Amino acid sequence: MTRLLICGSAVTDLIFEVPDFPTKPEKYTAEAARIVGGGCAGNASVAAARLGADVTLVARVARDLIGDMTLADLTAERVDTAHVLRSDHGQSAYSAIHITPDGERMITAFRGRGLAETADVSQLSADAVLVDTRWPAAAETVLARAATLGVPGVLDAEAPVADALAFAASHVAFSAQGLRAYAGVRDLRAALATVAARLPGWVCVTDGAAGVTVAGNPPQHFPAFPADVVDTLGAGDVWHGAFALALAEGRGEDGAIRFASAAAALKCQRPGGRLGAPDRAETDAFLQRMTR
Ligand SMILES: Nc1ncnc2c1ncn2[C@@H]1O[C@H](COP(=O)(O)OP(=O)(O)OP(=O)(O)O)[C@@H](O)[C@H]1O
Ligand SMILES: [Mg+2]
Repeated sequence: MTRLLICGSAVTDLIFEVPDFPTKPEKYTAEAARIVGGGCAGNASVAAARLGADVTLVARVARDLIGDMTLADLTAERVDTAHVLRSDHGQSAYSAIHITPDGERMITAFRGRGLAETADVSQLSADAVLVDTRWPAAAETVLARAATLGVPGVLDAEAPVADALAFAASHVAFSAQGLRAYAGVRDLRAALATVAARLPGWVCVTDGAAGVTVAGNPPQHFPAFPADVVDTLGAGDVWHGAFALALAEGRGEDGAIRFASAAAALKCQRPGGRLGAPDRAETDAFLQRMTR
C-alpha cells in the first residue's frame, strides 16, 4: 500500500445549513446541521485514505471533547492518528460554518490554544508527504524528512505561506488566495510567474472551477472537470490529498493533477465537507469517462 505522511491542521467543523448568511445580532435557525471533521491536513488524510493510501497524520489537539471527536472521526476513516499530539491543558481547534443553498460558505475558525509546538518525525517514513501551512514548525520538520527520504514533499500553500516551507517543498500547490498573498501581485498568471522564478521546486495554483495552472514557460493550464456543485467545502483539501497520493504512486505531475481534479470534482457534487470525498473506484471511473 502506498504510504503518505500528512502534517497540519485537524479540527472539527460544526456545519449549519441556512437559507441566508446571518447579518444581524439575532437568532437564526438552521435547516440542517452536522458535525464533521475538518482542517486541511485532516481532510486531505481522509480523502487519501478513501482513495486507498495508508495515511499517517501528524497533527495536534488537546485532551478535550473536540479533540476526542476529531480523533474518533479520523480513526473511523482509517487514518493512523498515533502521531497526533494531545496537550493536557490546551484547547482543540474548531469552526462554525454556515452554508447557503447555492453552496457558498462562511467560516469562523478558532485555531486552538496551548497545543503542541513541535513534532518528532525522525522515525517515520512514507512514499510522499503533504503539509499545510497551519503548523509551520512541524511542517518544516516533515518536509525535511521528505528530503532525507528522497520522496516528494508537497505544500498546500494557503495564506499565510512561510518562506521556510515554500523553499523546502519539492511541489508547491498554491490556492489562488495563497498565491496572490505570497506574491503580493493580484493578477494570478503574473503572481505565478513571479513566485516560480523565486522558488526552487515545481509550482502550481488551483483556482476552483477555473482549474489548475502549472508554472513554466509557457504555463500549462488544466481545466477543472464539470461538476453539479452542491458543496465545495474541503474540495481543495481533497485535491491536495489525491495529488500527493498520485505522486507517491509514481504518476507524473500532469497525471497527478488530473487524478486530483477528478477526486475534487466528485467531492463538489456531494454535501457534508469531507464526508463527500470519493473512493478509488468512483474516481478512476469518473476519470476514464471524462478523458475518453
Ligand atoms: N466548482 C468546482 N467544479 C469543479 N472542480 C472544482 C470546483 N471547485 C474546486 N474544484 C477542484 O478542486 C481544486 C481545488 O479547489 P480550490 O482551488 O477551490 O481549492 P482551495 O482554494 O484550496 O479551497 P479549499 O481548500 O478551501 O477547498 C480545483 O483546482 C478544481 O480541480
Ligand atoms: Mg485549500
